[in-house]
Amino acid sequence: MAEEIYTPGHTPNATAFMAKRTLESHGQFFVPWLEGAGLEVLDLGCGPGTISMGLAEAVPEGRVTGIDFGECQIAAAREKARDAGLTNLEFEVASCYELPFADGSYDRVFCHALMEHLERPHEALAEAFRVLRSGGVIGICSPDADGWLLAPPSAALTDAVEAYADLQASNGGDLRIGKRLGVLLEDAGFVRVHVSARYECYPSLEFIGNYLALQLEQNGMARHAKTVRDWSGSSHGMFAQAWVAATGEKTDHSAAVLT
Ligand SMILES: C[S@@+](CC[C@H](N)C(=O)[O-])C[C@H]1O[C@@H](n2cnc3c(N)ncnc32)[C@H](O)[C@@H]1O
Repeated sequence: MAEEIYTPGHTPNATAFMAKRTLESHGQFFVPWLEGAGLEVLDLGCGPGTISMGLAEAVPEGRVTGIDFGECQIAAAREKARDAGLTNLEFEVASCYELPFADGSYDRVFCHALMEHLERPHEALAEAFRVLRSGGVIGICSPDADGWLLAPPSAALTDAVEAYADLQASNGGDLRIGKRLGVLLEDAGFVRVHVSARYECYPSLEFIGNYLALQLEQNGMARHAKTVRDWSGSSHGMFAQAWVAATGEKTDHSAAVLT
């Protein structure tokens, strides 16, 4: 079994890449579930916390906790929340496999772009299930590389992005997990599971190209990195990311599948 390694790492580039995300841009699928007074929301794998900030704004009478195993991510998230003056938001360093919270402590669990990095997503979802109250709702979202649209196409570019997906797989993750999210929620005991999908067209090829190329370079794949950099310099190209979102509810009749 592959040893789990967080493929993007916590480099300034990867952190800045994540910090562009907001609840509005990446968490719309969960917004309908944020209505209700005083909701307690957990954001799993919150990274630099920009989506968590949107969650906190969406539940002004509630409370949001973001967790991430990256200490530097939590430090960045705390600073951003302090600068924004958000007082109903806190962050903690923690593993999604071992949440430092009592059973049934949260009304909502949100999780964006974490499952594809995990070797044991079913165990992380069992933990999420445990900390949700009965009547609580989970929302998870991850990419699926089977849906990527890249232009202009070339065999070298296909090889380079496949090498990136293989790298993530060798680190224990799965860049094609998107299509499995609904089944993973059902297997974890959630009911009324709903699945949706959307595309994110990256604002510039340089933005996504630099992100991928840096990681390929860091992992000794200079040839593939060069292919990605050359492609990202083209003026009429595109990279559309396929995101799959799944929501599910924990009810009194839910039965968690113990791992
Ligand atoms: C791709 S980033 C997503 C950050 C943010 N949710 C977003 O969508 O912008 C994934 C985050 O999950 C964190 N992470 C990875 N494995 C983790 C684990 N086992 N426990 C907790 N956090 C983890 C990483 O440190 C990283 O910040």
